[in-house]
Amino acid sequence: MLEGTLSVYAFIVIFPLAVIGGLLFLIRNYIRSTEYCDADARFDGKTIVVTGGSSGLGRTLAAELCKRGARVIVACRTKARRDSTAYFLRSKTGSFNLRTMFMDLNSLDSVFDFCQDLVDTEERIDAIVNNAGTLEPQDKTSDGLDKMIGVNYIGHFLLTNLLCDKLLKHGNASSPARIVNVVCGSFRSGHILNMDEMEGKFEGSYNKRNVYRSSKLALHLMTKELAHKYVEEGVVAYSVDPGYVNTGLYRHLEGPFGKFNQTCAKALYRTTEEAIQTILYCLSSKDVLKLSGSLFKDCRMCDVRSSAWTENNIKDLWTRASDLILSKGIKLELGAADEEEEEAEKADNSEQQDSEQ
Ligand SMILES: NC(=O)c1ccc[n+]([C@@H]2O[C@H](COP(=O)([O-])OP(=O)(O)OC[C@H]3O[C@@H](n4cnc5c(N)ncnc54)[C@H](OP(=O)(O)O)[C@@H]3O)[C@@H](O)[C@H]2O)c1
Repeated sequence: MLEGTLSVYAFIVIFPLAVIGGLLFLIRNYIRSTEYCDADARFDGKTIVVTGGSSGLGRTLAAELCKRGARVIVACRTKARRDSTAYFLRSKTGSFNLRTMFMDLNSLDSVFDFCQDLVDTEERIDAIVNNAGTLEPQDKTSDGLDKMIGVNYIGHFLLTNLLCDKLLKHGNASSPARIVNVVCGSFRSGHILNMDEMEGKFEGSYNKRNVYRSSKLALHLMTKELAHKYVEEGVVAYSVDPGYVNTGLYRHLEGPFGKFNQTCAKALYRTTEEAIQTILYCLSSKDVLKLSGSLFKDCRMCDVRSSAWTENNIKDLWTRASDLILSKGIKLELGAADEEEEEAEKADNSEQQDSEQ
């Protein structure tokens, strides 16, 4: 009798636990099923810029690119992160063909200075990975833009525009320079941002997740416009959805939902090694060359469409972002190093003449 009661209790407890465990296992396998494609691709002789390379999937990507022979330029948000990232990557990969630089996407001036420095000092740039991103409570950038839109979209928009000429110098139709924008799967439910939102003025309450999704949609539409602008010009652009990844991205999510997300991240989400595979694929594969402007996930094109993403709307968004940057006193073109040197020389000469008179 006692044995029978115990086995009923055991069944009541063990059966649901086994079902939950089995379900979690299946979900985990579904989320983490990753394609490893072009796993041997090498990047010798290529110079690749990675934003947000100080942690998360950007840092894993930078390390992998170093191991595969690329010259890697890692942009870091603070000077302390720049130094610690250099130490980490050098000790992990043994590569000294690596440069860590300061660039805070929170400031348009910082992005401009970073690009000017790169263009003046690097011989070539073959690819940019716009990976840095943030998901955090409402705040403003130092230029008065919404922080998530400023960091995730506008900063990368400026960086890409400023570096495009350099990309075009070495890219050609058979071996184009590549731009990879890291987005997220949920951008599909974002909306096209207006000027007020970019400047941090929202109607009603601030929905952090919605703003994040919309900033990523803007980045995806930038991919589309880049593909359109540079078709057959030696630059191709892709958006990559890395899937759910166990990184620090979710650290700013508060409340029970935030805690739930952080727990899920640890237990169920992809590792950064798994998450970077599609980025590596878009940086190396010849199969994607004709698919510029597309979204990739798990090494496959998985393009999405919406009736709201018309050619006109995409162009208007591009114009709004350009106008916004210009309104903050930042140019969308870099000064040529030679011109600047000539000007400085001229100024020196005229000062000398003045003092001789
Ligand atoms: N994790 C996911 O599940 C997931 C899913 C879909 C898409 N993504 C996207 O993947 C990308 C990488 O995110 P992650 O998951 O690796 O998160 P993460 O670990 O938080 O990494 C984000 C990176 O962006 C940098 N960053 C943040 N604000 C910056 C600023 N103002 N200027 C310059 N750099 C800044 C961070 O620098 P610090 O190291 O100094 O903080 C960090 O290196 C993001 O674009 C994210 O939206 C992630």
